[in-house]
Amino acid sequence: MEIFKTKASLQAHLQKARSAGKKIALIPTMGALHEGHLSLLDYAKPISDIRVCSIFVNPTQFNDPKDLEKYPRPIENDIKLLESVACDILFMPSVDEMYPDKDENWHIDLGELDQIWEGEKRPGHFQGVTQVVYKLFILVQPDIACFGQKDFQQVMVIKRMIEIKDLPIQLAICPIIRDEHGLALSSRNMRLSEEGKIKALALSRSLQYVKDHLADNIDLQEIKKKALTILTQTEGLTVEYFAICESNSLKEVERIDASKQYVALVTAWVEGVRLIDNMTLA
Ligand code: PAF
Repeated sequence: MEIFKTKASLQAHLQKARSAGKKIALIPTMGALHEGHLSLLDYAKPISDIRVCSIFVNPTQFNDPKDLEKYPRPIENDIKLLESVACDILFMPSVDEMYPDKDENWHIDLGELDQIWEGEKRPGHFQGVTQVVYKLFILVQPDIACFGQKDFQQVMVIKRMIEIKDLPIQLAICPIIRDEHGLALSSRNMRLSEEGKIKALALSRSLQYVKDHLADNIDLQEIKKKALTILTQTEGLTVEYFAICESNSLKEVERIDASKQYVALVTAWVEGVRLIDNMTLA
């Protein structure tokens, strides 16, 4: 695996690969890699010639400076993991390399997507995400960019940005990786005790409940109420939001229309850890 720390050196290398007709996949991350991230690299393998993984803890997407400071940076382990899956290129720039202009302004009109759910709870978060992902897209010019479905709203935001900026990039949405009990993999799970992990299973159980009962043609509000009960009856778990939404707009819906696609979203706190999960409802 080749490691690049500057935009110029990465660009020069990729320019040669592109001229040789190589198909490039980009897997943007903030490091602290786990099986979920590695599954994105696996996904990209058969559909690209060169896999570029970026590790950059992006300051503009954090609203709490303490969160940014505390963000884990186990870079030696991350490098080992990337080598274990034969990643071709790791790009790990410094903050100055990515943001040479301290006063850089960025704004993209994401409409309501920026104001609901994660957008409402973390103001400015998706502006920061799109700012850095756009920089990476322009730099790497990937044919394919892989993102995990785990951050469903983030994927919808990136999809919208690709449309707005008219970028020739194929967006690959890679499935959520769950442990054997159903807990969605996340770097945050490391902060849960064994008991906390059991409590956290209520998230996937509530989503699965919705998925399993949609076909029964029961009133959607009734299904949602029962799914919420799974969460509220779990001691030590606090629900932040639970919603059944149309997949693209993420607008909450009252009823299901067979011609559209839907997703159930949940965010809850367990042992001081904020957990998010979702399930697409075919
Ligand atoms: O999902 C993440 O890890 C980050 O939001 C991303 C997409 C790498 C942008 O910093």
